[in-house]
Amino acid sequence: MRFSGSRAVVLGGNSGIGLACAQALAREGARVRLTGRDPVTVEAAAAGIAGAQGHSVDIADLAAMEAFYADVAASEGGIDVLVVNAGVGGFAPVDQLEPDYWDAVHAINLRGCVFAMQKAGRLMGKGGAIVVTGSIGGHAFIPGNLAYGAAKAGLALAMRQFAGEYVSRGIRVNMVSPGPVETPLLHRNPGMSEADVAALREQMIAAVPMQRMGRPEEVAAAVLFLASAEASFITAANLMVDGGTLDIG
Ligand SMILES: NC(=O)c1ccc[n+]([C@@H]2O[C@H](COP(=O)([O-])OP(=O)(O)OC[C@H]3O[C@@H](n4cnc5c(N)ncnc54)[C@H](OP(=O)(O)O)[C@@H]3O)[C@@H](O)[C@H]2O)c1
Repeated sequence: MRFSGSRAVVLGGNSGIGLACAQALAREGARVRLTGRDPVTVEAAAAGIAGAQGHSVDIADLAAMEAFYADVAASEGGIDVLVVNAGVGGFAPVDQLEPDYWDAVHAINLRGCVFAMQKAGRLMGKGGAIVVTGSIGGHAFIPGNLAYGAAKAGLALAMRQFAGEYVSRGIRVNMVSPGPVETPLLHRNPGMSEADVAALREQMIAAVPMQRMGRPEEVAAAVLFLASAEASFITAANLMVDGGTLDIG
């Protein structure tokens, strides 16, 4: 019960890694608010977690996020744990990269996440913890990954900036960077058939030294560690949860 009495917000908490984080935080005593875009899965996710509330809010819509945080501030008085996990994927080789695709990915994965941290930071006090979901794609070459990888690399830099500027306020900011994880994300790549997805999945597994995909719960375990008091001397860290892919793959 590392989060007993904590007020936790999980942005992108209705699916995959974020849902596993929301479930694990609640199991360990946190009162969870989770967000996502799809009202149906937001409601279903919240209904399945004791004491959780779901909010359908687009992280790229800064005014909607402002209203969400105003609601959290009015009813909870603040935030103790923030998980910034919302993100979209997709691949486009550099020759086929379209400005609209670049903007759409960055509006969510970088701009949206940065302002989500900024606005939440104003509601957090000493002992607060922010954990951001990065990706090994923000560190290494992956074919077709420029738009996504650049956004995640920017987010890793943003994580360090927030860590540095919030340290005097007693707020820790860290990142987990997953390798391939079995979530709905894989099936949401625009323009990919299920056969393409199956082939991509095999390629991904072949690149992982542990020869398998990760599970959302394995990433959530790292998120909870960094969010907890067990990580009280850790800030600005970027923890790879990738079966060894980045360093020994
Ligand atoms: N799975 C992997 O292999 C992998 C690897 C490295 C990093 N990651 C990162 O892990 C994070 C979670 O991904 P996942 O694998 O768990 O995929 P997922 O199941 O597709 O979950 C993505 C989450 O982000 C939310 N989201 C997307 N766009 C949003 C927006 N504009 N506003 C609010 N919420 C939004 C989704 O909500 P809706 O469902 O309502 O859209 C969903 O909750 C992402 O940041 C992703 O980049 C994943």
